Amino acid sequence: MPSSTLTMESLSLACGEGGAMAEMRPRPLNLERRSMDEKCLNDLASTVNPSSGCQKVGLQPIKSSERLEAMATATVSPSLSFRSGMGTPGSSCHTPFAPHPMVADAWENLRKSLVYFRGKPVGTIAALDSTEDALNYNQVFVRDFVPSAFAFLMNGEPEIVKNFLLKTLHLQAWEKRIDCFTLGEGVMPASFKVLHDPERKSDTLIADFGESAIGRVAPIDSGFWWIILLRAYTKCTGNHSLADMPDVQRGMRLILTLCLSEGFDTFPTLLCADGCCMIDRRMGIYGYPIEIQALFFLALRCARTLLKHERGGKEFIERIDSRLHALSYHMRTYFWLDHEQLNNIYRYKTEEYSHTAVNKFNVIPDSIPDWVFDFMPMRGGYFVGNVSPARLDFRWFCLGNCIAILSSLATPEQASAIMDLFEERWEDLIGDMPLKIAYPALENHEWRIVTGCDPKNTRWSYHNGGSWPVLLWLLTAACIKTGRPQIARKAIELTERRLARDGWPEYYDGKAGGYIGKQARKFQTWSVAGYLVSKMMLEDPSHLGMISLEEDKKILKPRLKRSVSWTC
Ligand code: GLC
Repeated sequence: MPSSTLTMESLSLACGEGGAMAEMRPRPLNLERRSMDEKCLNDLASTVNPSSGCQKVGLQPIKSSERLEAMATATVSPSLSFRSGMGTPGSSCHTPFAPHPMVADAWENLRKSLVYFRGKPVGTIAALDSTEDALNYNQVFVRDFVPSAFAFLMNGEPEIVKNFLLKTLHLQAWEKRIDCFTLGEGVMPASFKVLHDPERKSDTLIADFGESAIGRVAPIDSGFWWIILLRAYTKCTGNHSLADMPDVQRGMRLILTLCLSEGFDTFPTLLCADGCCMIDRRMGIYGYPIEIQALFFLALRCARTLLKHERGGKEFIERIDSRLHALSYHMRTYFWLDHEQLNNIYRYKTEEYSHTAVNKFNVIPDSIPDWVFDFMPMRGGYFVGNVSPARLDFRWFCLGNCIAILSSLATPEQASAIMDLFEERWEDLIGDMPLKIAYPALENHEWRIVTGCDPKNTRWSYHNGGSWPVLLWLLTAACIKTGRPQIARKAIELTERRLARDGWPEYYDGKAGGYIGKQARKFQTWSVAGYLVSKMMLEDPSHLGMISLEEDKKILKPRLKRSVSWTC
């Protein structure tokens, strides 16, 4: 079987008990609560490459493309081996085959971007471009640090991730004010900066919770990424002592208090302001953006594995369970779009009242944009950008859809349909440079109304249909989870043609992403880290366990206490 057609099923078969693989398999360590698929991936990978950065057992490493083939044929050749971090200061293995030259360049750039506080590394700077105005790119952004953190975890360097988690927890405790208004206790910063005073030999921190960002919006994604990273750190090191610390548990409860609080909501999705995530300028994503809903779902699932029962933790677990159940129902039902569902919406009747309404949000079929009919393939589907009363945002958003796969918010069928869409719409979503952040671009009148004439978000640029290399790690993770590594391999090859040569830009412009972005910073750290993480995951798919969670059937069981009108 060629590695490109390896599926979860064949992985399960390959790691069945009693085979040649089972005999070679070392005892798995610290792999609590794993589903069968995840267990198989981990077991197989630790069989053929135990130097996966997290749990080292003494066998020779092997390249993942070979590993995937080895899984299928159950033969392992330890001589065909290398590791992404090879030749970097933090790694120690020497093998006869050289990795892609970009890998060493990437590690060098990643290490240059480290930011220190009182002698300890606490994060990575957003960009190291000396030719452009620093603006706020000289700060450590929480979301930007995520791929850096994964790179360090995968390379067996968890300390910096721990420092980062503790430093940002400390910042969460600050009183946060914008004009006369005090923000919620749990809000995590968008970014922070370390000020070094060489005379006094002192370091101080400055944080931004949205009060100095464009649009003055608090970053809803920061708290979610913080929880997701905490779980990754715990899973990777097998060390629960950080997550179990009373202050860390409190930090988690504060974030959850913010996003689980009761209000006037009739939906389980989280109401958001425009610009509260990676897309941090006005782009018409206010309401219930997929980018946040998918992260919300993943963060709730991660918190569920980390919360201790004391000090209200048990009640939070119960609230998380009800919310996860309702959220997955809502998203899988109302956000999902494929050819059949598009046809249903096209034929919707409007002005329906009562519980029997089919068109629950009163979407007017005339509001369906023309491009969707051309874009929607017969094979494939995706979670749309936003669902709210009479407003379906049909745009495709990459991060939300990949996170939906990784968190198992998407059913296995939906996950596979999203991957089909990548294949069917390769030119639109991947083009010359992976990957399109959103599709399609807003143009002309719509651009004027929706973005407020934003000169940075012109059509096919930046957040408005620009291509962001950082998203490669999310695609790669989704590809591995769905058993389609060949898609990631193709995308990585495209990246390798230009990214380093172009100086690791932040984003690319144009319909196919062929031009370095108009205002793109060079040496953007998450472009560098995203590439490294993709390479390491493809080489050692067991890393996937740090970011991915398998479907939990219990989430689908009805647990709602109050609503009798809700039937699911
Ligand atoms: C831009 C991006 C944002 C990122 C920041 C730092 O503002 O839109 O997502 O965090 O740059 O790289």
